[in-house]
Amino acid sequence: DSSLPEPITIKLDDAGHHIKLRKTGDADGKGTRVRVLGRVHRERKQKDVLFVTLRDGYGLMQVVISGKLAKTYEALTLTRETSMEILGEMREVPAGARAPLNRELHADFYKIPKHWRAAGGEDAITNRVQASAEHATLLDLRHLTLRGENASSVLIVRDALEFAFNRAYHEARIRKVSPPALVQTQVEGGATLFKFDYYGADAFLTQSSQLYLETCLPSMGSVYCIEKSFRAEKSLTRRHLSEFTHVEAELDFIEFSHLLDHVEFLICRVIELTMADPAIAGYVKTLNPEFTMPERPFMRMKYTDAIQWLIDHDIPNEEGNPHNFGDDIAEAAERRMTDIMNKPIFLTHFPAHIKAFYMKKDPEDNRVTESVDCLMPGVGEIVGGSMRIDDYDELLAACKREGLDPEAYCWYFDQRKYGSSPHGGYGIGLERLLAWLCKQHTVRDCCLYPRYMGRCKP
Ligand code: 4AD
Repeated sequence: DSSLPEPITIKLDDAGHHIKLRKTGDADGKGTRVRVLGRVHRERKQKDVLFVTLRDGYGLMQVVISGKLAKTYEALTLTRETSMEILGEMREVPAGARAPLNRELHADFYKIPKHWRAAGGEDAITNRVQASAEHATLLDLRHLTLRGENASSVLIVRDALEFAFNRAYHEARIRKVSPPALVQTQVEGGATLFKFDYYGADAFLTQSSQLYLETCLPSMGSVYCIEKSFRAEKSLTRRHLSEFTHVEAELDFIEFSHLLDHVEFLICRVIELTMADPAIAGYVKTLNPEFTMPERPFMRMKYTDAIQWLIDHDIPNEEGNPHNFGDDIAEAAERRMTDIMNKPIFLTHFPAHIKAFYMKKDPEDNRVTESVDCLMPGVGEIVGGSMRIDDYDELLAACKREGLDPEAYCWYFDQRKYGSSPHGGYGIGLERLLAWLCKQHTVRDCCLYPRYMGRCKP
């Protein structure tokens, strides 16, 4: 109807003052005429009125289609996920009714080009993606399940979380760099290396950007990166991926206690920034109703005390025996410990032989390193960090002990040759932090298209 006012095009979450709602029962009042584009999230017919919940990735909007508009072929055969362009007047929802943002769009026009229509009948999306389907089947259909409220909410929170990291590091004057993914050095042990042919030479997908971050300290000060890390994990657990997003930082001229304080501060600041956006806080509340901000200071516990705690609580090691000094604390034991304590824990001072070659020894007890894992309830380890060996000879010896070829690491040793410094850093698994924040059972649901043993598609 060309006599109607020109519509303004809006996103479905737009609630600015430029949008007026016509009051219920106000015959003369005028609501703003808007134009929206989105997909049919839900639809239901009530007598001669078609109610459509439209979705555009920003929000949901209730659309009321009535009169002749509800009797067209398109309206009568409307399927979920069909894309639509709709024009109409914004109104208040009648008393007793409910709709997103307490408003509804009364359509006076809509358009559904033929190829915008979603398959229906047998092939309808609701038949393909069934709530009862196996998790593996849902992951095969990830390109469709992403459209669901749960999956998309987690990914929207993930976007906010990653943005918050960038903001928090910027506030702390820590600079972002982008180290390479294709490398010829290992960082976290040979067992999980993804090896490939690099123009006739052996190369690996990076396990961690740490060694590269260390090379930035002399000229850029403390640095961070948010990059992919790759590990050929040969076990199927709910917290291991083959490709994960690694938030890593390296801090110059620090002591171990500074490292712990910084990690604690950063995690809390990132969560605070993420939750400061009411829309994001809303998603978190829906996904994780019991969420509360972590309390500072985090509990700090030495590895030796953790071993004693596990013995006292009858939690056995992987062989089913009581824990001993030197045991790696396996995933199951670690999770039980975090679940019982039910708060973030810094586990520190791990024995040197169960940790990476580059970790600095504790000057007070040479058996252990200045290392830390941060454990969160429900997930377990989300952060791994340490002070680094800053002495050339000590690092060379550690490298040889590990069976690593010093030739391949010459550029890393050069950092200790040309102006060494006390420094340390850490890596945070973004998917694990997100699993904790959004109370997801597995990190597989915390990335767009998870990669783990046996899955490399879609
Ligand atoms: O403890 P990790 O192996 O430490 C490092 O890689 C150090 N070089 C990082 C550094 O100091 N710059 O890994 C750090 C974190 C873990 O705590 C975990 O959150 C995550 O990375 N992570 C994984 N997340 C998902 N899937 C995997 N396979 C992961 N491996 C490590």
